[in-house]
Amino acid sequence: DTRDPTSLRTPIVAVLGHVDHGKTSLLDKIRGSAVIEGEAGAITQHIGATAVPLDVISSIAGELVDPDDFDLPGLLFIDTPGHHSFTTLRSRGGALADIAILVVDVNDGFQPQTLEALDILQRSQTPFIVAANKIDTVPGWNANEDSPINATYEAQSDRVRSRLDESLYEIIGNLSDEEFSADLYWRVQNFQRNVGVVPVSAMTGEGVPDLLAVMMGLSQRYMKEEMEIDVTGPGVGTVLEVKDEKGFGKTIDIVLYDGTIRADDTIVVGGTNETIVTDVRALLQPRPLAEIRTESRFEKVDEVPAAAGIKVAAPDLGEAIAGAPVRIVRDRELEDVIEEVEAE
Ligand code: GTP
Ligand code: MG
Repeated sequence: DTRDPTSLRTPIVAVLGHVDHGKTSLLDKIRGSAVIEGEAGAITQHIGATAVPLDVISSIAGELVDPDDFDLPGLLFIDTPGHHSFTTLRSRGGALADIAILVVDVNDGFQPQTLEALDILQRSQTPFIVAANKIDTVPGWNANEDSPINATYEAQSDRVRSRLDESLYEIIGNLSDEEFSADLYWRVQNFQRNVGVVPVSAMTGEGVPDLLAVMMGLSQRYMKEEMEIDVTGPGVGTVLEVKDEKGFGKTIDIVLYDGTIRADDTIVVGGTNETIVTDVRALLQPRPLAEIRTESRFEKVDEVPAAAGIKVAAPDLGEAIAGAPVRIVRDRELEDVIEEVEAE
C-alpha cells in the first residue's frame, strides 16, 4: 500500500435493508460497472467488503462526481447479509459504519428488516440515505442503462413517472411515520437534517451515478474530521464472523476501522468466556479475481491499513464471537488493551 500515512481514511458505508431488496445486487452493479470501465483491477475485494477508489467512483458517476472536489480516497462498502449479525455489530462495535445506504424495494416498500435497520441507524446516529431500488420494475419502464436519474426520469411516459412518484412518496411517508424527515435527494439541502431518497435500479444501473455522488458528498461534508486519523497506529476493529478455514483452523473475519494490523501483531479479541490474547499467524486477503483458479482462495499480506476487511488466522480463536471488539497491542501495555476490550 502506497498511501500517505497522514491521508484520510476510507469511509465505511454499510448497505442494509430487508431481504431481497437488492443490497448485494447494488454492490455487484458497482463492481460490474468498474469492470466495464476497464478499472476492475482498481477495485479491491476485501473480506466482507468492497473498496471502490475515488477515480473509479468518478468514472461511474460521470459528471456527477468531479474527483478534484474530493480528498477522500474512496468508499469501503460493507454488504450486510442478515440484519441479525449487523445488530450485534452495531451494539458492540459502535463506530463501525460511518454512513449507510438503506435499500428499499420500490414495490415492496417498508418491511420488518427495513424498520429494524432504521432503528439501528437512529440509535447509532449514523447518517444515511435511502436507495429506492428496482425502479426498472415499474410497469412500462423504459430503461436507460447506467443513466443518472434525472435523464432517465425525463425519458419515461407520464404514466410511468406518476407510478414511480407514487411509490417514492409512499417511502417518504413511511420514513416520516418513523420520525425521519425525508425527500427526494435533489430537494434536500441539509443531509444531516433530512434523509435523501435516491431512486435506483441495481439491474440497469439507473440512478447509481446519483447514489455514488450523494454518498461522496455526504462523507466529504460530514465525516471528514473523523476520517483524519492516524492510519499507522495500532488497529481497532470488529469481528464480523468466526469461520473454519482449511489449513488455518478457526479464523476471524474482521473490519478494521482505525489504525493498522500487521502479520506479527499480538491481538486482543472479545470471547464468550474470556478475553482472548493471541499472536497473528497470518493476515489473509481474497485473491484478485484474475487469479481465482489458483489453489488457495487467499493471499497472505504483511500489513493492512484501515478501513479494510481482513481474515485473521491465529491460535485460540475458537471462543471469539461475532460483533466482539478486536484491538492490536503493538507497543502498549497488554493489560491496558485487555481493559479497553472488556470495557466495550
Ligand atoms: P439478502 O442478502 O438476502 O438480504 O438480499 P439482497 O438485499 O442482497 O438482495 P439481492 O441483491 O440478492 O437481490 C434479490 C433479488 O432481486 C435478485 O433476484 C435480484 O436479481 C433482484 N434485484 C435486485 N435489484 C434489482 C433491480 O434493481 N431490479 C430488478 N428487476 N431486480 C433486482
Ligand atoms: Mg445480499
